[in-house]
Amino acid sequence: MIFEPILEDGVFLFDCSYPSLSFITTKDRDTPIISHPVPSYIPTFECVLGKQIVKLELPTGTSFYGTGEVSGPLERTGKRVFTWNTDSYGYGPETMPLYQSHPWVLAILPNGEALGVLADTTQRCEIDLRKESIIQFIASASYPVITFGPFASPTAVLKSLSHAIGTVFMPPKWALGYQQCRWSYDSDKRVREIAETFRKKGIPCDVIWMDIDYMDGFRCFTFDQERFPDPQSLVKDLNDMGFKATWMLDPGIKCEEGYFVYDSGSESDVWVQRADGRPFIGEVWPGPCVFPDFTQSKVRSWWDSLVKDFLPNGVDGIWNDMNEPVVFKVFGMLMARSTFEGMKLANENKRPFVLTRAGFIGSQKYAATWTGDNISNWEHLHMSISMVLQLGLSGQPFSGPDIGGFVENATPKLFGRWMGVGAMFPFCRGHSKKGSFDHEPWSFGDECEEVCRRALKRRYRLIPHLYTLFYDAHIMGTPVMTPTFFADPTNPSLRTIENSFLLGPLLVYASTIPDQGTEESQHELPKGIWLRFDFDDSHPDLPTLYLQGGSIIPLGPPHQHVGEANFSDDLTLVVALDEKESCDFDVILTT
Ligand code: GLC
Repeated sequence: MIFEPILEDGVFLFDCSYPSLSFITTKDRDTPIISHPVPSYIPTFECVLGKQIVKLELPTGTSFYGTGEVSGPLERTGKRVFTWNTDSYGYGPETMPLYQSHPWVLAILPNGEALGVLADTTQRCEIDLRKESIIQFIASASYPVITFGPFASPTAVLKSLSHAIGTVFMPPKWALGYQQCRWSYDSDKRVREIAETFRKKGIPCDVIWMDIDYMDGFRCFTFDQERFPDPQSLVKDLNDMGFKATWMLDPGIKCEEGYFVYDSGSESDVWVQRADGRPFIGEVWPGPCVFPDFTQSKVRSWWDSLVKDFLPNGVDGIWNDMNEPVVFKVFGMLMARSTFEGMKLANENKRPFVLTRAGFIGSQKYAATWTGDNISNWEHLHMSISMVLQLGLSGQPFSGPDIGGFVENATPKLFGRWMGVGAMFPFCRGHSKKGSFDHEPWSFGDECEEVCRRALKRRYRLIPHLYTLFYDAHIMGTPVMTPTFFADPTNPSLRTIENSFLLGPLLVYASTIPDQGTEESQHELPKGIWLRFDFDDSHPDLPTLYLQGGSIIPLGPPHQHVGEANFSDDLTLVVALDEKESCDFDVILTT
């Protein structure tokens, strides 16, 4: 097999034919560098019945991760995944594919070294990990494969991957606060009520989300004249209380002459076309819809300017939903890109915030993501930890589930437990479906409300630490939230732990078993010193926290929203000494 060293030492390209959509630039992928060593592992390429099969054999005892947004267990060894962005309402542990596509595998070798393998294709791709220590990709046209490593640690592989596909965008600080959503808060009156209740009850929160019902008949870029007549003054009131406002934009544009988005899009010829050249029409919320073809730069410019003109209505963040649309493989990432660029166009000095449901490897450059329409049950609480971890191991560090579950109703115990662990996730948002009970932190009685308050106060105390992790992720491509085995990749028994995770040196242990609090569950710790601490707030429904010997984490005050921070705030340091009684840290301070 022909291979070429690319990008940096230890990265090899095997076969090359098509332009890359995952690399920041195709040139980076296709330009050889001067590097001496040859690859340690060389894949075989085979063409069978028009399909390209790529196989890579690794040492016995290798464990597999990555493959993007997948439900089920954390370790992917023994599993098979298909990449094909799909609307997966109420998915289960075996449902596949989900909303996003990451043709990427992270392999942890028996000696703790790590290797990453990327199939650089936007086609439907089968990733088959069912045979012991073998990675197999199958797609219906040829594609190149890139191997990263083996390197000394999984973090080194993820950093190298980020040199190829880019790092996460630097989020505005408020996007790290708690976010409250519902399908839908159906009027500006209800939105004000929700915001006021957070402040009255002293539960920290930074963002209120507007789901599709704010629109006039589900027409994107419009507002319902009765229920949301004056978005600017709504958002002014929210901003005065310290909240930001995020609004939904779907890709399905109602086919309706006289609707300015449809008219201008038709005039500029921006719609996805069928083979016969006519616009493709599909049913979404407003009925028959057309879809912008985001693969064309002229279409992205058209969308960018709509986004730019939409922002002065009082839009702090944008939520791109329903953007798989099944037939278009990379659609979601390019829609998020265009939305991000439109926000940047409106104000070059403001960091955009976009949330996207669909995505492709590399979409972390433009948007955060959430794990779609999950269910209010214990299995989904448990899976949410692995799903967020897995996205992080696939280059997307900014994700979280709908806390409390989207479909069906949570119980007080489930909701409190989910908020406890969700408050430690990179993206922290509560959301629930139309027709479900209220799912705000105060909706499940006093005890659950108190658990939520404590959980979110913890998050706000940890904001300086989280912000620093994001800064490092943005600059260096390091992950934000990682599996426990990152603390010792040589220990095979850590590789399957699903109820704990690391935020840098902070180890978070949760219980996802209904009648077992965190105290009662077994905590397997990585080697070395791990010191337990809390905020004088322990509760059986809140995770247990440990700090690794040799490290310090910075804590801020428990603000109600991140905008309350200022440079005269006290910074508290939690210190865990190592065997030599030393420790260090870095922190990025900002208001
Ligand atoms: C989709 C989204 C969900 C949203 C709903 C209505 O199901 O995944 O989060 O609330 O559409 O817009």
